[in-house]
Order: sequence, then structure tokens, then C-alpha cells
Amino acid sequence: MTQWNQNPSSHLSGLAETATLLIAGPKQRIDIWYASLSADERFRVTTFATDPQDLRAKLSSNPDIILVDATIFDGPSPLIETLTRIEAAIYVVLPQLSVDETESLKQALECIPNVKGIYVVDVNLAALVEKMSAEMRARRFNDPSLGWVPSAAGGSKPVSTRVVAVWNQMGGVGKTTVSSNLSYLAAQRGYPTLLVGLGAPDDLPLIMGLKAQPNITNWQAKPTPDGLRLAIQKLDTLDVIGGFPDTLSEAQAMEKPMDDPASVKNLVDTAIREGYAVIVIDAPPTSLAAMAMAAANTLVMVARPSLEAAYRTVDAYRMVAERLDGLHNIARQNIYVVLNRMQAGHRVDADSWHHMASEQIGGFPPVVAQIPDLVSVGDTQDGRLLPVQRVDAFRQALKPLADTLFSSDGRPLPSTGREKRIFGVKVRF
Ligand SMILES: Nc1ncnc2c1ncn2[C@@H]1O[C@H](COP(=O)(O)OP(=O)(O)OP(=O)(O)O)[C@@H](O)[C@H]1O
Ligand SMILES: [Mg+2]
Repeated sequence: MTQWNQNPSSHLSGLAETATLLIAGPKQRIDIWYASLSADERFRVTTFATDPQDLRAKLSSNPDIILVDATIFDGPSPLIETLTRIEAAIYVVLPQLSVDETESLKQALECIPNVKGIYVVDVNLAALVEKMSAEMRARRFNDPSLGWVPSAAGGSKPVSTRVVAVWNQMGGVGKTTVSSNLSYLAAQRGYPTLLVGLGAPDDLPLIMGLKAQPNITNWQAKPTPDGLRLAIQKLDTLDVIGGFPDTLSEAQAMEKPMDDPASVKNLVDTAIREGYAVIVIDAPPTSLAAMAMAAANTLVMVARPSLEAAYRTVDAYRMVAERLDGLHNIARQNIYVVLNRMQAGHRVDADSWHHMASEQIGGFPPVVAQIPDLVSVGDTQDGRLLPVQRVDAFRQALKPLADTLFSSDGRPLPSTGREKRIFGVKVRF
């Protein structure tokens, strides 16, 4: 069996060595920093700069992080001016100044959004690398465009995890249909993918041809990487955790606080640590959806193409973008709409539907896929198979959503012929 990355400081194992660093300062300082940082596999020092002009010129290398000794600047103004224009996360070490000067310079630097750490004279490098690592994880979680980096063990691994909550407040609109088929497509594209159901009793395993057990209650009984593995069933390369067997176990889950080890949030965090590139959550119209939202960085709202659905989807969007703002990490640009069960000649087409919604609220997310109403979809599900495996028109209609979330430039690096197992599933590198 595969041994998981046990390094506790590497929360996202896929991020371990992806952060690139530019270090700027007097040569002696650079040498010391380089010696320490190059020993840490989470970072790669790619650029050095010894004066401000050099630093500005080398920004074109697009580092993730800049660590700068401010003594290379002539004074506070050129330092502030340069740092304001930098997009990377900045950590700055100030020279010894008077208490008042230090205080006012700190205040000015704190106003620069990308300045993430300010130190005086020296910096504890061990503490700094933990801080930089946490900042990189947060940035990548908030910008989940997928990609791959070479892995130390050979082959490639994901730089980020796309955690997609598929949700709407309305029942029966196609959330389970979209989440099951979308996750299957992600797995087919080579992304290590986990689908999590939260229904009660959950019809997700049923329509996928899987069993009622194991399911999420196995995770709840043992909320550890081992417990996660025990909760999984497989459909080809896709890993699936079915939802609750009954409403009682669902009710118990709803009572659990967000930081409970058995919570949905911790399930997703554990799955991220285990190296999944894509996690799709089939979020129910119950209050458990808030748990799914808290764990996600992407939201797909599934809706029917009717006026009533437009109104209710606007309300669902308001709930996430306004009322739950601050309780999740879903940026507005990572919210998408799928219109399901479109009928030819229907009075509401996608443009007019979006127009109706946009009249209610500014910045309403785009409709990225329109799925036709097809008898064969229900028939295939009744046969316990996925429509994406059988129904061409359905697969074609879902493709724009898959392309948006799992872009083709996110394909793994060329295969080395090596294989790794994620919970027993072979992943080729
Ligand atoms: N594009 C489609 N064409 C025809 N039938 C569809 C389509 N999408 C979904 N259905 C059918 O609609 C029903 C509801 O779909 P689904 O279970 O995916 O909705 P849901 O939003 O998950 O429902 P719930 O709120 O109960 O969890 C199912 O019987 C499914 O077969
Ligand atoms: Mg459902």
C-alpha cells in the first residue's frame, strides 16, 4: 500500500516544492538565506537581486514569494513604491531604525496587501518558512486553476485542489446528476478525483451502480486518512464516498461543529492532504450545504431553465456571495451556473434566463453549460450507469463545464511510465 506523505508541515502534499522565491538583499544576507531556504523542499529559490533596480528587473520571473532585506533601498519611499507594484507575497526585513520610524514604516507597509510579513533586523527563518508555506496554500486554494508540477518522487503531482460544491436550494434540479458525471469526467481526464455525496438517504451510489455501503458514516466513525479510505468505493478511476444511509445519521452530522474531526470540512481537508486534485461535493438543499460550502473553493449552481428557477437561483447566489461571505473561500469568479433539462423550443433560453437573473443582482455568474432534457438520461440512471458513459448529447453538453473547471492545460506532465496508487487506484505518471 502507498505510504502517504507524513510531513505535517506539508498540508497539501502537492504543493511541497512548487513555491518559487526571489530573494533580495546585500550579498552576505542572500548567501545566508539561500543556504537555509534551498534545504527546504517546499521552496525553490529561482532569482536573486542585490539592488532595487535589479529587483524590479527580475520581477518578470514571476516568483510566488519575495523575501527582501530593505537595507538595499535608499529609504522608505523607494521601498514602499517598489513593493506596492509587486504581485507576489512579500516578506520584508527592516533595518534598525528609531522606534517612531519603525512604527510609521510598518504602518505604511501593512497597507500594501501583498506584504505578508514585516520583521526588524533579522528573521527567524524556521518560523518564516511555515508562514510562507501557509500563505502559498491559502493562495492556491483560492485560485484553484489546476496544474501539475514535477514530483520529487518522479512524475507529476497537482499544484492545487479544485473543491467543487454542486448545489442549489431547489430539490430535484439535477445536482446529483451533474456532480456524479462531472467528477467521472475529471477522473477520466487523469485527475485524482473524489466525489462526496451528502444526501439522506443518498441516491448517489444507487444511480452510479455502487453499493449503499461503505459510505460517509465509515469516515465519521474513523475521521482519519485510514477512515477516509474505508469509506471509499470506486467507479473506474473515480473514488466515491456515498452520503448518509438515513435522515437520522444526516441529522447527527448537521449537529457537528465545523471543527469536529468527523465534519465534512475535515473530510475534504484530509482528502486534499492525500493528494486529490479534484473533489466534487453533491451538496443537498439542507443546512449541510453550508458545510460543503465551507470546504469548497468553487461552486456550481444547477438550475432549471424557468423564470421561477432564475429567481430562486439568484437567492441561492445571494446566500453564498453575501450572507455566507467570510464563511467560505469561494471567490465570485469561481461560481458557475449549469442549466439542466433544456427543451428545444422552450420559451426560456440561456441568454434570457441569465438576463432575468442579472436584473435581480449585479455580477450574476455565467451559464457555462446547458444540458438538454433527455429521456435517455433518466433511463441510463435507472440502469445504474452514468449518462456520461452512454449518452453522447449529454456528454457533449457537460463538456464546457469540465473544460472550465479542469482545463486542458491542466493535463499531467508527460508520463514517465511510473504508477502510484491513491487509495488503491492506479495513477500513471
Ligand atoms: N438532463 C436531464 N434529462 C432528463 N432527466 C434528467 C436530467 N437531469 C436529471 N434528470 C432526472 O431528474 C431527476 C432528478 O435529478 P437529480 O437526482 O440529479 O436531482 P437532484 O438535484 O440531485 O435532486 P435532490 O434534490 O433530490 O437531491 C432524476 O430522476 C434524473 O434522472
Ligand atoms: Mg441529489
